[in-house]
Amino acid sequence: MNRESEEFRKITMKVLTMQLNSITIMDLIAYGGAALGIIMAATQLRAGHVSMTGCLFIILLSADFFIPMRQLGSFFHIAMNGMAASDKIFKLLDLKEQEKGKESITEDRTIEIKNVSYSYDGERQILNEVDMKVSHGQFVSIVGESGCGKSTLAGILMGKNKGYSGTVTVGGKELKSITEESLLENITYIGHQSYLFKGTVRDNLLLGIPAAKRRCISENARACDETLWQVLEKVNLAEFFKGEKGLDTQLNEKAGNLSGGQCQRLALARALLHESEIYVLDEATSNIDVESENDIMREVYHMAKTKTVIMISHRLANVVPSDWIYVMNQGQIVEQGTHEKIVNQEGMYAHLWNTQQNLENFGKETV
Ligand SMILES: Nc1ncnc2c1ncn2[C@@H]1O[C@H](COP(=O)(O)OP(=O)(O)O)[C@@H](O)[C@H]1O
Ligand SMILES: [Mg+2]
Repeated sequence: MNRESEEFRKITMKVLTMQLNSITIMDLIAYGGAALGIIMAATQLRAGHVSMTGCLFIILLSADFFIPMRQLGSFFHIAMNGMAASDKIFKLLDLKEQEKGKESITEDRTIEIKNVSYSYDGERQILNEVDMKVSHGQFVSIVGESGCGKSTLAGILMGKNKGYSGTVTVGGKELKSITEESLLENITYIGHQSYLFKGTVRDNLLLGIPAAKRRCISENARACDETLWQVLEKVNLAEFFKGEKGLDTQLNEKAGNLSGGQCQRLALARALLHESEIYVLDEATSNIDVESENDIMREVYHMAKTKTVIMISHRLANVVPSDWIYVMNQGQIVEQGTHEKIVNQEGMYAHLWNTQQNLENFGKETV
């Protein structure tokens, strides 16, 4: 911080010095020039070379001739700012374009992660030789303490974190070779702070429905609204929006007029409409009220019966019904298995489980 602020101070001072210098020079030229013009006109008048009107004319003109020079100085400053900004823009434009995949995900949607390591800055290793397999239709959970690399792994799956080593395949196809469209069509991500846009509830929900379907729906608006209400019913929001203006209820930017739990439930509704085969939930129920959490978890368990669900959660009580649980620690998988199996291993999972159970049951006996 100290080094950076010292650097910033020096640069600011340099800019100020330059600006002050250029202003001084410009002022000297502008006012000096005007003064010179006035003196010249006065001496010429005295010598009788110009008339009184001519002299006045030159005096007035000389000020108007030199003063714009000052403006040139400030334009110079603006131009310099523009140059610096365009340098940045060109730097961005010159970045190498990411290689785009050409393949699409087809029937088989088994996800296999083999020997995957990842680092954001090339120095600190965040993931370390992670191996994971999620079969089509399986319900898999990833747990571990904060900062162990769970979201980083989700980012890799979503094609956001590129440049990993090892292989990640979906249906036998390398992730890097799959088109972005196909990836987004097949995998739906729900984070802990889902983005809702300014507009009506209907607008926001329709975003979840792929374009083709939206077209057919636009021809039958009533059936469309019915689908939307059904999904709102599932996440227990129908009641609330009926009390407002229904599907026409206006949402502020980032749905500021809804509670955190309502936001997440609406985001889940939108994700349900997307009807992809794979869902990745990254702490989708953190920092929200218990009722919302229960509503969301009920839907997730229901969804897990037919879809592939990868759930990242710090709350172990939610992951108990998973088909398989991976426990991560410092970028590595340290334990895996069903809840019954790993809770009896007296390892990290058992430790986390006991701590959380003690916390959640705290005081229950005494009440
Ligand atoms: N965009 C990023 N740039 C650099 N480091 C990051 C970035 N995102 C996360 N990290 C680091 O990676 C580690 C794992 O983060 P994350 O995957 O978000 O953990 P988790 O989701 O398990 O809590 C953390 O130490 C974090 O500081
Ligand atoms: Mg995370």
